[in-house]
Amino acid sequence: MRARMFSLLLFVLGIYTPVKSAADSNIFVCYFTQTRYFPPSAVPATTCTHLIYAFGLISGGTIKFRGQTDVNAINTLVGLKKQNPELKVLLSLQQGFPTIVTDSQTTMEKFSVNAISVLRNAGLDGIDFDWEFPLKKDRDNYSRFLKIFRTFVNKEAIGKTPLLVTMALANNVYALKTGYDVTSINQNVDFYTVMAYDLHVFNAKVDNVTGFNSPLYPVTGEIKYLSVSGLMSYCLSLGFKPSKMLLGVPSYGRSYKLNDANRHGIHAPAVSKGDPSPYRHLKGIYAYPDVCVAIQHGATIVSDQTSHGKYIYKGTAWVAYDDDITVAEKARWAVSQGLRGVGLWAVELDDLDGICTKDKTKLSLMTAIKNALNI
Ligand SMILES: *[C@@H]1O[C@H](CO)[C@@H](O)[C@H](O)[C@H]1NC(C)=O
Ligand SMILES: *[C@@H]1O[C@H](CO)[C@@H](O)[C@H](O)[C@H]1NC(C)=O
Repeated sequence: MRARMFSLLLFVLGIYTPVKSAADSNIFVCYFTQTRYFPPSAVPATTCTHLIYAFGLISGGTIKFRGQTDVNAINTLVGLKKQNPELKVLLSLQQGFPTIVTDSQTTMEKFSVNAISVLRNAGLDGIDFDWEFPLKKDRDNYSRFLKIFRTFVNKEAIGKTPLLVTMALANNVYALKTGYDVTSINQNVDFYTVMAYDLHVFNAKVDNVTGFNSPLYPVTGEIKYLSVSGLMSYCLSLGFKPSKMLLGVPSYGRSYKLNDANRHGIHAPAVSKGDPSPYRHLKGIYAYPDVCVAIQHGATIVSDQTSHGKYIYKGTAWVAYDDDITVAEKARWAVSQGLRGVGLWAVELDDLDGICTKDKTKLSLMTAIKNALNI
């Protein structure tokens, strides 16, 4: 009580700001995959609270690494914990779930034991399940698997910190509604990132007009579930817990090739994914530095006041993207909704070389999110 009075006094004097306890502090998950242009040694140790390495393999009833470069990269990330003892490093799995989840209880138990031992031996702090996406028929078996995995994680953790079990959740209403047993996930998973991006990706047959990758608010003429806020409220309505829910934010844009350079608005006809980006040379995708280079080369910027989405265009090139302003706005929005934080896809798509800012500040998207989350 006296301590509380004392902090109250300091608070009134403006010296002390109450901080959330570790149990409910904000989380900033950063996914990382290896590319030529972003070595694991360049991943910052103190920007994210959790790093998730993507991806390990499910193979032969256990977790395997794709090769020595993965093992080395994971060692490097785990080594960052020397600089930041609070940092957690996890491994994500994406392929191969059916081989475990549609098999017997014995197979699930063996996998759990093997996987836990692989994670511990690598010095990792947990596992991230990124099955894209479980179908309705998989739902009950997946739920059973999660329960078994959690039991083994808890059993193994006697006398030490339990491994974390996290998940990436689908970006569409149908998959969210049919593929996941929300009660089981809330019981057995520590936190989950809703992949609130790729809401529009060029597809010749079904999505052949320009659209936003990850707009915060609904876009005029579209259903609200094709927006970040609409998708997140849908997840809450299904019973996912805000205290375990992270907002997935992209550090990349989606590019299109316009049918007609003079029709460059939202929902303009497109003929294909965009040509290779100007800096990282990616087809259909602009990493954040690609967006900055395109703007430096004279692309026109449009901010949509309704959805808070942004796009650039030049000639027949058209790109919907996020920048330091939009990712910070989303992070603040997530906190205002009582969500636990942000999950970024991905570290290597941020601006490693500092070409987006006048003062050459590096990784400006990650920095903007960290600041907005007050980490
Ligand atoms: C669920 O798992 C059982 C084994 O426990 C398996 O026989 C069944 O085929 C699985 N269901 C689906 C839809 O894969
Ligand atoms: C464009 O997409 C629509 C559906 O949104 C589809 O009906 C139409 O056939 C597509 N156009 C082409 C040329 O494939």
